[in-house]
Amino acid sequence: MKKVSIVLSFAALFLAACSGGNTNTTSTETSTTVDATTTEVTTDPTTAEVEVPADINALLEKNTCLTCHNANEKVVGPAYVEVAKRNYTPEQIVELIYKPKPSNWPDYQTPMIGLPNVPKEEALKIANWIVSLK
Ligand code: HEC
Repeated sequence: MKKVSIVLSFAALFLAACSGGNTNTTSTETSTTVDATTTEVTTDPTTAEVEVPADINALLEKNTCLTCHNANEKVVGPAYVEVAKRNYTPEQIVELIYKPKPSNWPDYQTPMIGLPNVPKEEALKIANWIVSLK
């Protein structure tokens, strides 16, 4: 019986000594939970997601729009489906790409920077597509 209690107290000492430095296990756990939450939810038929045509996607990518925008979801900037609801004309959207008006979107903390280097015809193609999302 005595032998057992000595073994146990050794085990307790050992555990106490180790518990200080075991932060590694917790950090691996957090990264697995993040993965699980990024799976897309596309089940609701009433909020069917807009598909971005390949040519438009190429323009959005080339002109860095995708850094801040997604067609369906709010990122740094509003989703393009939300922009479509504002009923702009394509010309107005082109203007807003060159000269954004952050006051139109008061809930957004980071304002859009004007992108005067986007070629006009590319801006117009993007604008026509946004208008078509209504
Ligand atoms: C640095 C991040 C960023 C980039 C890059 C960016 N946007 Fe934006 N965009 C925003 C934010 C934030 C808003 C909302 C607030 C604002 O207008 O400043 C916005 C708003 C808009 C609006 C709505 C304008 C309005 O006043 O209703 C349009 C249209 C738009 N962006 C198109 C584009 C297009 C097209 C591109 C690429 C050529 C682009 N954005 C690139 C962040 C960005």
